[in-house]
Amino acid sequence: MFVLFGLTLIYRLGVSRIKSELLDILRDGNFHSGEDLGNLLGVSRTAIWKQLQKLESMGLELESIKGRGYRLPQGFELLDDESIKAELNPSVSQQLKDLHVHQSLDSTNKEANQLIQELTETASGTVILSEYQAIGRGRRGKNWVSPFAANLYLSMVWDFDQGASALQGLSLAIGVAVSRALKQLKVDGVQLKWPNDIYINNKKLGGILLEMVGDPAGQCTVIIGIGINHSMPKQSGDEIDQAWTDLSTVSPKTVSRNSLAAFIVNHCFDVLADYQLKGFAGYQDEWQAMDAFKETQAVVSTMNQSTVGTPVGVNEFGALKMQLVSGEIKTFIGGELSLRALSNDK
Ligand code: BTN
Repeated sequence: MFVLFGLTLIYRLGVSRIKSELLDILRDGNFHSGEDLGNLLGVSRTAIWKQLQKLESMGLELESIKGRGYRLPQGFELLDDESIKAELNPSVSQQLKDLHVHQSLDSTNKEANQLIQELTETASGTVILSEYQAIGRGRRGKNWVSPFAANLYLSMVWDFDQGASALQGLSLAIGVAVSRALKQLKVDGVQLKWPNDIYINNKKLGGILLEMVGDPAGQCTVIIGIGINHSMPKQSGDEIDQAWTDLSTVSPKTVSRNSLAAFIVNHCFDVLADYQLKGFAGYQDEWQAMDAFKETQAVVSTMNQSTVGTPVGVNEFGALKMQLVSGEIKTFIGGELSLRALSNDK
């Protein structure tokens, strides 16, 4: 049994080594035949083919031409913990507990949760990234489409001692942090859609999912999950059930995924450190200046009720303000609510 387990472990390590080394060779943008790849890595052509099949099933867009072999798209970049750390602000590096880059996880939020349960000390300040998520989590029980090395899937862990109600506007404040990171990377036209979507050109570029562990009335730990579409392969994009966009479409310059990760961590850590003092009120004006749905006829829905009206911004706690047909202003708190425009262009 022990010997068997040992063999399995060696096999697993070997397989992930082949995968990383394969990607390293293929990212030069040139074609490599299966035979050459096998010789370079000291494994059979069949082993190479199996690994490439596995990567393709994880959503990696690989170009293959009969007689020439395989190659990765130009500018292909893997996430790298050292490159990300090198771009962190000194104050953020000081607060960083750990930064883990995985090739494949079920979900970075799930991994963060497991870490919180396992550690005897606090996990606050930990950042988790993965090239691929098998069961990426979206809001309202939806799946988050997470193909390999195409986008950004990132979770952060942060301790708070003010209870859940003080954190109502946190996901909106994180939206502001992400917009600051995108602006720093010269991505224009960033909009925020209540409660926590990142939009550009009226299409969804990214989303934020907050999950809470601990006492909702006091000391708790928040997992802040952020997904940003960077270079969504068409096949994966077809699985998304709403209008979406990605950075390779909206940005004239290629945005490095490692820089994107570092800038998001920089701005999020700043917001997280400040949020305890300022609350959402400190971010309200900046959020409203990017409001994607301002003055657009829309409908807010729960599982069993829909309300039509015109969004007129957010209050100091991050609740949505809707002007109803009667003229009354009604407020809505995030959670499981969804906001949709009545016309089709958002
Ligand atoms: C949404 O539905 O808009 C929220 C999407 C959040 C996706 C991110 S990707 C990183 C983190 N891990 C997950 O499983 N989900 C979040």
